[in-house]
Amino acid sequence: MTKSETTLSKLRAGSNSTQECKELMSYLPKDRNFFTEHLYQYQGFWYPPNLLEGVLYSQKHFHARDSDIILVSSPKSGTTWLKALAFALVQRQEFQNPLESHPLLHNNPHSLVPFIEAFNFHTQKDTFPRIFSTHIPLGSLPESVQDSSCKIVYCCRNPKDAFVSLWHFMKRLVLKEMVGCTMEEMVRGFCRGSSVYGPFWDHALEYWKESLENPERVFFVMYEEMREKPEEWVMKIAEFLGCSFTEREVEDGVLEDIVNLCSLENLSKLEVNEKGKLVNGMETKAFFRKGEIGGWKDTLTPLLAEEIDKATEEKLLGSAFRFFC
Ligand code: A3P
Repeated sequence: MTKSETTLSKLRAGSNSTQECKELMSYLPKDRNFFTEHLYQYQGFWYPPNLLEGVLYSQKHFHARDSDIILVSSPKSGTTWLKALAFALVQRQEFQNPLESHPLLHNNPHSLVPFIEAFNFHTQKDTFPRIFSTHIPLGSLPESVQDSSCKIVYCCRNPKDAFVSLWHFMKRLVLKEMVGCTMEEMVRGFCRGSSVYGPFWDHALEYWKESLENPERVFFVMYEEMREKPEEWVMKIAEFLGCSFTEREVEDGVLEDIVNLCSLENLSKLEVNEKGKLVNGMETKAFFRKGEIGGWKDTLTPLLAEEIDKATEEKLLGSAFRFFC
């Protein structure tokens, strides 16, 4: 079995789903998917079997604390970056000189901040505060998260760049098995909402609304705005998380050091991110590519871009929300 097949079979899973998950899948709406056989619609959003299992597991077993920080995003919207930044922000007293012996220099951000739907949240060290991440939509978050006053940071990216990033990520991960799917088919699935954790737009809109109604609970950031003005946004995130920078820290370059430490340029060159693997076998380099704003132009034809734009227009009808570009 090749490396890519190993990763793919983990993503496909399903065959070793629990009885409960199998029963649920037997009556959930399903749709064809390009790399797992089917996606299943649960509580309005679409999942492959292994992620559905993870969502069910987290809904039952994840116990949030009021002091927890939960980082949320749709896949390929800046999760890795946000994990690095949040970790570096809240741990900054412990690692005074981040450019020397910082955990992020030797650990991929996904190893430091677990996904709550990835079965390994128990392994999170008992740091204070605990930081977790998730792609779970607002309405499906474990009850304990909904009932707690933990802080949620949501990172949103424009749908065309997120789609293209996912396309390249899947190609890197599953290689040959992608041959059966054309980009046209994948765009169509994405536009009708049936992509992993999709509909992409509903995911963002729900958290955006929540951030307006409960600004002390949910902070909404745009990947593109962070790319353009990282220091400004990192300061805002720190303020939201209750660990604002002091003037002295800013003067001493602590903010700048954190931004540099967590930059795509820096993280992607580290050995752990060039050659490492996560516990699930995924190669860490798959999480770093170009990080461009509008980079979709290199991959999407004008016609496919138009299809996504049309879906975006329809989804945002009647809403004041706008993606960055
Ligand atoms: P591209 O594929 O457009 O380059 P996620 O972390 O949610 O999986 O998102 C991956 C996207 O974020 C990729 O985008 C990747 O290059 C970009 N990315 C990863 N680390 C980053 C960082 N430290 N700063 C900015 N972008 C980053």
